Amino acid sequence: METAKPEVLKQHAKKAATFSHSPFSHYPVGAALLAVDGTIFHGCNIESSSYGLTVCAERNAIAAAVVSGHKEFKALAVFSNNGATPCGACRQVIWDICGDIPIYIFTKDGQSEIYRSKDLLPAPFDDTKLQKESNP
Ligand code: THU
Repeated sequence: METAKPEVLKQHAKKAATFSHSPFSHYPVGAALLAVDGTIFHGCNIESSSYGLTVCAERNAIAAAVVSGHKEFKALAVFSNNGATPCGACRQVIWDICGDIPIYIFTKDGQSEIYRSKDLLPAPFDDTKLQKESNP
């Protein structure tokens, strides 16, 4: 299957951002997560009146993919007005679920940046630390 190009992922993330529920921050974010089979999953930020319950676009895209049975991913795109990079909580979950993938950051003005999840979360805590051998 042909791999979706960053520009295609951008369009998906941009569309996802239009569904953002962000009445408190007024900061819409959309994410598009590309699975290895070519399926693209979407997420937007969903805010709660109990602010701490807010879930970012990235983690909602990951949840949508995982609940559909997907476990391997090729790339993540994030779209916002001014180039949001994933927050700390999202960096952890991206590492846990997606491993070291490229993360494309897009803005409404057409700017873009690319990172890798490993660079966004150096020295991660992860499942390797929870294996029996490492945790006697
Ligand atoms: N947010 C995301 O959804 N993703 C990011 O990469 C950064 C922040 C959301 C959380 C909250 O709804 C709003 O943006 C402002 O923090």
